Amino acid sequence: MQTIFSGIQPSGTLTIGNYLGAIQHFIELQESNDCFFCIVDEHAITVPQDRLELRKNIRSLASLYLASGINPDKSTLFIQSEVPAHTQLGWMLQSISYIGELERMTQFKDKSAGKEAVSSALLTYPPLMASDILLYKTDVVPVGEDQKQHLELTRNLAERFNNRYNDIFTIPEVSIPKVGARIMSLQEPTKKMSKSDENEKAFISMLDEPKRIEKKIKSAVTDSEGIVKFDKENKPGVSNLLTIYASCSGETIETLEAKYEGKGYGEFKADVAKAVVDILKPIQDRYYDLIDSEKLDDILDNGADKAAYEANKMLRKAKKAMGLGRVKKKR
Ligand code: TYM
Repeated sequence: MQTIFSGIQPSGTLTIGNYLGAIQHFIELQESNDCFFCIVDEHAITVPQDRLELRKNIRSLASLYLASGINPDKSTLFIQSEVPAHTQLGWMLQSISYIGELERMTQFKDKSAGKEAVSSALLTYPPLMASDILLYKTDVVPVGEDQKQHLELTRNLAERFNNRYNDIFTIPEVSIPKVGARIMSLQEPTKKMSKSDENEKAFISMLDEPKRIEKKIKSAVTDSEGIVKFDKENKPGVSNLLTIYASCSGETIETLEAKYEGKGYGEFKADVAKAVVDILKPIQDRYYDLIDSEKLDDILDNGADKAAYEANKMLRKAKKAMGLGRVKKKR
């Protein structure tokens, strides 16, 4: 049995990209592993957030995790800010991070480009993410492709700490799905699908109604060739829809290419939409039952207790390794 950790930011309703690149794999992994899934609200505040929106998004994300199939009897589901060890170890890992390596992170470059006021937390985001992972002796971190660079840095920080102080951290492996690791925007298929895209037609939210999903897929950018074929470079729009279809239906891309040979984009797009609706509709039904329930609070309370117990053990080790605090005399 391995220990799995992953986190998602509560910064808007999740997209089908978050589901296919991450959550779908969490569900499989929880069957035979010790899993921790986190709502990383302290990561979300690295960019400005409206407080009421943030509160709403935290609850919404917790419900989406559960509605998608995270089983609280098998996995630990919790909110990052309810386990203070995350920011405590995060600070300690900042002290061994170099400004240069943080400035090289693509996510930092993207999110800070052209902005006047960039928070220092946006720069020091990766050591907090490393803390999330390292607190739980994590063996594997399932994420979409965009998080690969942060995982490499996490491994570097863990090794640096182990060499400099004491060998306490497990070096985590990253796990990126073969299909669906980078779902692209429906409007600009050379850009990643993102929940913060200004153009709502560019992404499918996990809570979009069936009609809206159909509309968005119908208006997804393709090309004028009329051939359903996977070719990322020359046909990014069609390739993206094929990826979404394959990930939702469990069929291979080759099978789907063969199925639509000689057929146009109209029929293909209608079937992609159906595959997406078939996956999302049952999740949405469960979501609306959970969102205002007390059960949700009980699950998150339990999750925070379980996570804090594990995290505090590692935090004590890290403090000792670094020489923080004191050794208390027995009385
Ligand atoms: P976040 O909240 O941006 O995304 C959550 C997960 O969804 C994946 N993802 C995608 N996968 C495929 N296609 C897309 N278009 C797409 N967009 C997002 C992400 O790769 C991610 O797996 N820094 C992280 C959150 C985090 C974390 C952690 C993750 C904080 N601490 C510790 C793992 C371990 C983030 O911003 O993910």
